[in-house]
Amino acid sequence: MTDPAPRPGRVLVLNGPNLNRLGTREPDVYGTGTLDDLRAELAGAAPEGVALDLRQTNDEAELIGWLHEAVDTGSAVILNPAAFTHYSYALRDAAALVTKAGLPLIEVHLSNPHSREEFRHTSVISGVATGVIAGFGFGSYRLALARITGAL
Ligand code: DQA
Repeated sequence: MTDPAPRPGRVLVLNGPNLNRLGTREPDVYGTGTLDDLRAELAGAAPEGVALDLRQTNDEAELIGWLHEAVDTGSAVILNPAAFTHYSYALRDAAALVTKAGLPLIEVHLSNPHSREEFRHTSVISGVATGVIAGFGFGSYRLALARITGAL
């Protein structure tokens, strides 16, 4: 098992396409909480001294830029790549830059992609991630944060 140490004080929580629609998007799959709800929940769970920055984009290039920023600022990453999970080699390469720099990058999913359509069973990100947590709604993010901050 790989320990995600060092435990940086800055954590980027990055969300890919369509996750800005959380709350109304397929609530039976993703729940009724919004990204703002998630931001508040994580802020409440973060230990003192940990700066959380939750962002969302529908743009692959922007998401890649944020992973570069994580490397440049020594930030840990919690990444929900959304549909990019299943096919974006460019995002995979950027995620590899983070973990190769010795920074933790935890791939998270609200749903359990393995219990859904076949195309969701493949993640091109998992192979370069520190770890993967899926299927627990906002709990997936909370578990990732707990691991990154040393509580797990
Ligand atoms: C998701 C699962 C992906 O398959 C999907 O494309 C998403 C959300 C999740 O959090 O469960 O947009 O990453």
